[in-house]
Amino acid sequence: MTPLTMIVFGATGDLARRKLYSAIAHNIRSGLLPKDTAVIGISRQQMDDAAFGQLVADSIGGPWPASSRLAYVAGSADQPDLYPDLSQRLKAAPGLHLFYLAVPTHLISAVVGRLADAKLGRSRGRVIIEKPFGVDEASARTLNRSVHRAFAEGQIYRIDHYLGKETVQNILVFRFSNGVMEPLWNRGQIDHVQITAAETIGTEGRSDYYDHAGALRDMVQNHLLQLVALTAMEPPAVFSAQAVRDEKVKVLSAIRPVRTEDAVRGQYQQGRIDGVSVQGYQQEDGVAPDSRRETFAALRLFIDNWRWYGVPFYLRTGKRLPQRATRIQVVFKQPPLDLFEGAAQANVLSIHVQPDERISLEIGAKRPGLGTHVDPVEMNFVYATSFRSASAEAYERLLVDATLGDPTLFAREDEVEAAWRALDPLAQRWDKEAACLPYAAGSWGPQAATALIARDGRHWLDP
Ligand SMILES: NC(=O)c1ccc[n+]([C@@H]2O[C@H](COP(=O)([O-])OP(=O)(O)OC[C@H]3O[C@@H](n4cnc5c(N)ncnc54)[C@H](OP(=O)(O)O)[C@@H]3O)[C@@H](O)[C@H]2O)c1
Repeated sequence: MTPLTMIVFGATGDLARRKLYSAIAHNIRSGLLPKDTAVIGISRQQMDDAAFGQLVADSIGGPWPASSRLAYVAGSADQPDLYPDLSQRLKAAPGLHLFYLAVPTHLISAVVGRLADAKLGRSRGRVIIEKPFGVDEASARTLNRSVHRAFAEGQIYRIDHYLGKETVQNILVFRFSNGVMEPLWNRGQIDHVQITAAETIGTEGRSDYYDHAGALRDMVQNHLLQLVALTAMEPPAVFSAQAVRDEKVKVLSAIRPVRTEDAVRGQYQQGRIDGVSVQGYQQEDGVAPDSRRETFAALRLFIDNWRWYGVPFYLRTGKRLPQRATRIQVVFKQPPLDLFEGAAQANVLSIHVQPDERISLEIGAKRPGLGTHVDPVEMNFVYATSFRSASAEAYERLLVDATLGDPTLFAREDEVEAAWRALDPLAQRWDKEAACLPYAAGSWGPQAATALIARDGRHWLDP
């Protein structure tokens, strides 16, 4: 295995402490990363290597693998002073230098600029960049240019951790390794698609970030549009990073800009979740009492290509919704003739991304007994029972891919730009708009979200 040094910018942050260190430690222990992987943590907080070791051990709830070295460099990553020391350390570090930028997104351009000035990166480096990548298409383009000063495109891994989930990777396998799906997967057979990504949590101490981003930029531009792309893309000719990403870009580029009347933005108010009273968004620590930022978004979008023309994709995501669930629900057309008196129903194929990882198909079945009564029943593939091995954590998988140099599950530059392009007109109008529609915490968003789909004679399915 190529020796590896990981340089974690944002070493004391929420993401590093909750996700990264445990993923690195797990991968080292299971032999997916070199046993002697070195980790250098960087942030402004002053501490020595021992204190950093303690922070990491506390984060993963146990000891760090003894075979791996942890070091810490305190300093501002957007200032030049940090880099002579870092350069010295990296000169002595053989193999791959994997830079993980887990810093607030507005710093990324400055940090990669410093890496370019210090000539770190190009020769032996790769960089993982967290989402959101920019705040619109123009800023994503500018950021892409900055990052290219330090790294070639093939060295850049723009992470969207949804793509590291087994259930998400399985969308392509399900569609393209089963011949039965392809004849059904088009506007002739599919009535519409619903994608829901619901969270019960509020801002969880991340108000600073969230109050700038909101649901559209935090969730829709990346996670939800990635699910749209995987659901709607054409089969690639080969399963390679370039071919898969080419097809995703084509779909994202075919999304018709979303009109204001096809979108609903909401903000949660005080309410109850699981019987517990929770405060409204504007009362959260770090949120301005008059904040207009949306915590809920529902949209209807169309993909203007031959496969999908006229098929609505209804997307919704929000915080403080009644349950945590991410689902893709493909609703097929009803049978042409209602043979069993009112029993004709649309089959629904549900890809349950999280938390219960499974794929189900809702079909009509004859209720046992006299007469012909049709009831909806589910055919189910459940990950946990069909496969004994537990799914890897998304970050574990993605870290391994980045060290192996496989970018298939990471977003390419044109992909992030295309995703922004699809949403920019709406995002700009929303930024200017005065208010969000209120919804009670613990509900499924504003009434207008129900009306958005009801006006097409459809309804949101239980996720
Ligand atoms: N948290 C998540 O679940 C999550 C999920 C998806 C994506 N992300 C993305 O991951 C990135 C980090 O998020 P986070 O939630 O971990 O943020 P965070 O908790 O605010 O942590 C930010 C980290 O950056 C460091 N930092 C800030 N300014 C710095 C500077 N000038 N120089 C060096 N270090 C600096 C902070 O430490 P000091 O203050 O000590 O410098 C801290 O370690 C963001 O881009 C976010 O959008 C986070």
